[in-house]
Amino acid sequence: MAQARPDSRHQHWSAGSYDTHARFVSDLATGVVEWLSPKPGERILDVGCGDGVLTAELRDMGLDVVGVDSSDDFVTVAQARGLDARLMDGEALSFGPEFDAVFSNAALHWMPKADAVVSGIARALKPRGRFVAEFGGHGNVAAIVTAMRAIGERRGGDLALANPWYFPAPQVYQALLERHGFNVKRIALIPRPVVLKTGIEGWLMLFRKPFFAQFGDGAQHALAETIDLLRPALCDADGNWTADYVRLRVEAVAS
Ligand code: BEZ
Repeated sequence: MAQARPDSRHQHWSAGSYDTHARFVSDLATGVVEWLSPKPGERILDVGCGDGVLTAELRDMGLDVVGVDSSDDFVTVAQARGLDARLMDGEALSFGPEFDAVFSNAALHWMPKADAVVSGIARALKPRGRFVAEFGGHGNVAAIVTAMRAIGERRGGDLALANPWYFPAPQVYQALLERHGFNVKRIALIPRPVVLKTGIEGWLMLFRKPFFAQFGDGAQHALAETIDLLRPALCDADGNWTADYVRLRVEAVAS
């Protein structure tokens, strides 16, 4: 699910922080699992399996699941759940045509080389295999990205660090899939406002620490300014924060 590379642009994952601040991600996966509609015994590849909570649910439904993730920390935790979890970059999948379906939840937006991702997925599927995924779509966390960009401009920072993600519009993603031989059965943008039980600061520090770290001693001020900008849009009168998530959900069939 992550690109755990050493440079500051990329995300470092801690399974513990993820569990504290982002457990809702696997909790909200019912809809995409329904689209997968798995049958017991099917062999499924879960791309960006993270800490394996959802992957384990798929296994417990009687599926033969392999999970891959590019974060050591996540793969270790997923293996401890007894899963067949492997350290592998989603942008460089190395499977042949062995899966009945490729599944992914809340991971593909961390893999901007979408052409490489879809190509690896196409190679991993048996003929007529399904690809079912949900991830950030066009407009996802738009207020959050805009606030970080505003603070980045104000402080002369690197704006690219405010938005390292891939959030495609449906027609763009459909065209990409078709170029790789998929027949898109259904694709939709789904607004998904999510109440952040641990607030916005935990979310920003979990997912965009490199953006704030670039300001060195000014990191805490940059964080406070970003939160001030976001408050009117994302915080209610009782102090509850809601993230402006938008999902792209897709089901496609390989040729
Ligand atoms: C998401 O699940 O949409 C998401 C999570 C973290 C950062 C950006 C997007």
